[in-house]
Formats: sequence, structure tokens, C-alpha cells
Amino acid sequence: MLDLRQSAHALLAENSRTVDHFQYTVPSNTSYPYQWFWDSCFHAIVWNHFDPLRAQAELDALVYRQHDSGFIGHVIYWQPSQILAIDWGIPHTSSLLQPPLLAYAIWRTYQASQDHDWLQTIYPKASAFYDYILRERDVRQCYLFGLVNPDESGEDNAPKFDKALGLPPQHDAKDNTERRYALFDVHRNCQYDARCTSKQFWVEDVAFNTYLVWNLSVMSDLAHQLNRPKDANRWRNAADATKTAMRRHMFHDGRYVSLSGLAAEPVTYNGWDQFVPLLAGLYTQDEAYRLVKERLCDPEQFWLPFGIPTVAKNDPAYAPEEPTWGEAWQHPDWRGASWQTVHWFLYHGLMRYGFTAEAASIKEKSVALIKRSGWRENYHPETGDGQGAEGFTWGTLTIDMESGRF
Ligand code: GLC
Repeated sequence: MLDLRQSAHALLAENSRTVDHFQYTVPSNTSYPYQWFWDSCFHAIVWNHFDPLRAQAELDALVYRQHDSGFIGHVIYWQPSQILAIDWGIPHTSSLLQPPLLAYAIWRTYQASQDHDWLQTIYPKASAFYDYILRERDVRQCYLFGLVNPDESGEDNAPKFDKALGLPPQHDAKDNTERRYALFDVHRNCQYDARCTSKQFWVEDVAFNTYLVWNLSVMSDLAHQLNRPKDANRWRNAADATKTAMRRHMFHDGRYVSLSGLAAEPVTYNGWDQFVPLLAGLYTQDEAYRLVKERLCDPEQFWLPFGIPTVAKNDPAYAPEEPTWGEAWQHPDWRGASWQTVHWFLYHGLMRYGFTAEAASIKEKSVALIKRSGWRENYHPETGDGQGAEGFTWGTLTIDMESGRF
């Protein structure tokens, strides 16, 4: 019998790296041998179940490579390797963001360690990071924050970016990777100015904006802990402004959708991200009920035997199989495979609204996938087969689901 907790701890320890006095965890030794932004937030959350000091170290390493502007890259290169050896044009890190989960990871680490001094040290860095997003990514000046590359969503090849990339719902995985990589040159030529890059690629992603609303309100809680009422108010107001803007511009036919391009066209694909706003309480109880019963729990759409697919089975873009060309890191599959973080987000979103049976069932599916196919990057939702990177850390979030903490 697999002892999940022990095995999760062993995997994190195996993937842990030390450079000088910094410590971080690689998502997968073979496919992702660097520190990655949102992965490190997940790692810190799970490390807290074993060793809160190690969780602090993970986040300290993450913010150490912060640029003067407040920006923190989605990949941090502590050691050289051939994978993703891209000329980003800036030292030590990539030039892209990733979902802004830093505040929540700090919050959980503070809860576990109760270390006020540590919070005092890391708070200004988190503050500069969120200020960077608020300052640089509201290109249309409507409190909705945009991405200049699909990879900034953490859902690299998700169909919500097809239109902005000029691709049809069904296309070769290689074309997708090539178009995303071609944008790296645009970023360099634009000197990382989002107003400039937005003319080539711009998506206001429903998931990214939800994570932001949620994390800005956590920033407000952190500011309260540090006795900074002015900051606390400022973060709360920022969270509320985006929440209101999302309702106004992103809410269509009972669900939140992403907006594509500077013309902000609604993206109507049937994706898992319509459920993300549950996390931040953006749906009313009635709206949530309908969404969960009519979409999430429908076996023709999302309720598949081996997990919740990132794209509904009835959507033309649904393509859960791992492509056969290249290496795993060249084609992370966000077009229908099941991912453990998706389960973790859904679990907490469902719990928030009282859908305890549905949440419990997702947790069981997560555990079953690990027992059946091991620590893999993602899984085929109809067969349960493991896909993508091996020794991949995100499944360790099941430990956090088991604990019921949020
Ligand atoms: C893949 C995922 C991305 C993740 C990275 C490292 O690129 O799509 O979300 O951060 O792998 O695990």
C-alpha cells in the first residue's frame, strides 16, 4: 500500500535543490529542472505539512530573483541546463509571469510557522510583485489584467489562447509551441513593455484574474497581520475593483469567460477555468449550483472516470492524449488532460460553496490517479494513464486536500 504522505515527502525531498544557501524544488528532475513560479507556491503549501522552515526557504529563493520593477520571472535559472535555454534578454529568469499565487503561499507558510519576522521580510517583496502587475498589466485600464503570452497562465497551450495565436480549435501541438515561442522575440523587441506586446498578443484570462482577486485579498489579510491598515485597505480595494470588472465584462450566459485581444472578445470554449471563480466566491450560490450540476458533474463534459479534464469532452478542442513528438516539456497538455492542481483548485472552490460530496469525489480521483499511475505531470481522463513529465510534484497537493486546510 502506498503511503501517500510519506511518498509525497520523499518526492519533494528528491526534487529539492540547494544552491549557495538557497533552497528550491524542481517540478520534475528530468523535464523541469529549474525553479518555477507557481510550482514553488504549490511546493511551499505542501512543504508546510512537513517542514515550515523549508517552505519559507522555497519562497525566499523565489523572491530573491525579483527584478527592481517588482517583476518575478516564471522560470528561475539557478543552474544551467539545456531545457528552455531561451534568450529571454534578462539575467537569471524568464521574462514571463505566472499565476500570482505568492500571497496565498506566504499566508499558508505564515500560518504554519507563525513567524512574524519572516512575514515582515517577505511582505515588501510580495507587495512590489503585486504592484508590478497592477501597474503594468491593466493595458485597457479597466481593472482586468492581461497576459502577453499563453505560458503566463500556467496553462500553456489551452484553447482559450487559440484565437489570439491565430490557431483553429484542432491543430498540431507543434504549431502551438512554435507560435508561443515566436512571441518571445516580440517581448524582447518590445523591451517587455506590455502596451507594446499587447498589439501582438493579449488575453485577459479568467483564471489569472480570479487568482489575482483572491491573492490581493490575502495581501490585505497579510497587511492586517503586520498592522498596516492603509495597505490592507489598498489591497482590498484593488481586489474589489477587479471583482467588479470581472462581473461586468467577463460574465456571459451564467459563467465567467476570458477576453481575447485588445478588442476583448469573449472566449466561449468549454474549459475548466469557468469553475475557477468559485475559489474567490465570484458566483452566487444559485449560479454555482447550476454550473456544478449542469456542467461540472455532466459525464459528457467534465465528470470523467479519471479526473476532471481541462477541456470538456464535448468541446471541439478536446485532445487529452500526449503528443508523440518531442520531449514532455515541449508540449504540456492543457487541451483535455487532467492535472492535479486543477483538482486542488476545484476541490477548494467546491468546498467554499458547500459541494462537499463533489469535492470529496475529486479528492478521491486525485489519490486514485497517483496510486494507479504514479507522480505524473497529467493523466488521460478516460484511461487514467500517466502522461508528460515523471517524478512531477503537483500530485503532492493531495496531501493538502486531505488536510482540509485552505
Ligand atoms: C508546464 C506547465 C506549467 C508549469 C511548468 C513546470 O510548463 O504547463 O504550468 O509551471 O510545466 O511544472
